[in-house]
Amino acid sequence: MAVLETIVVAFWAMLPAYVPNNAAVLAGGGRPIDGGRTWGGRRILGDGKTWRGTAVGTAVGAALALLLNAIGSDVGSALGVSLPTFPPAVVIALPFGAMLGDILASFLKRRTGRERGAAFPGVDQLDFVVVSLALAFLVEPGWFLETFTLPVLAVIVIITPVLHVTTNVIAYKLGLKNEPW
Ligand code: CTP
Ligand code: MG
Repeated sequence: MAVLETIVVAFWAMLPAYVPNNAAVLAGGGRPIDGGRTWGGRRILGDGKTWRGTAVGTAVGAALALLLNAIGSDVGSALGVSLPTFPPAVVIALPFGAMLGDILASFLKRRTGRERGAAFPGVDQLDFVVVSLALAFLVEPGWFLETFTLPVLAVIVIITPVLHVTTNVIAYKLGLKNEPW
């Protein structure tokens, strides 16, 4: 696979995992998942992880995966690359895994004494990728291994932190997010 094709496939395959966190920022609010409960004197997850943010984030990511499935062959032939089609279980697994990864990161942040909004370098940038890929592998191992080849995974590990930092700085500057991470 040519380098450019690898980059396009990596970006395409991860879009349903990239968008949920940003959708959650826009949709967030309402009841926190942990219902305000604490563990060891600290919140289990904190007010930054809400039912609404999680549900809307997952739904937006899944809707995007379906849209990509609908336009994939046209876009692929226009670009001259072969783009992956998301199987039904992956349509849910990628966005839900992204939300779950972000939730697990908040759990770890609270256990390590970080308040809501505190930065956790490395974890903030890659948590959602690791869990969304793990869930996608669990539900569709064959498709996963065909799509996420080693070069594609390498591109994902490089472009994800760059995209994550860029979109969060933009959301911060637009006043949508309290911190630029
Ligand atoms: N959000 C949400 N539900 C989620 C994830 C995010 O409602 N599952 C919304 C919240 O309004 C949150 C905002 O998106 O404040 C930003 O997300 P994030 O940076 O992940 O949360 P933080 O508030 O920084 O909290 P934490 O320290 O736990 O990451
Ligand atoms: Mg944050």
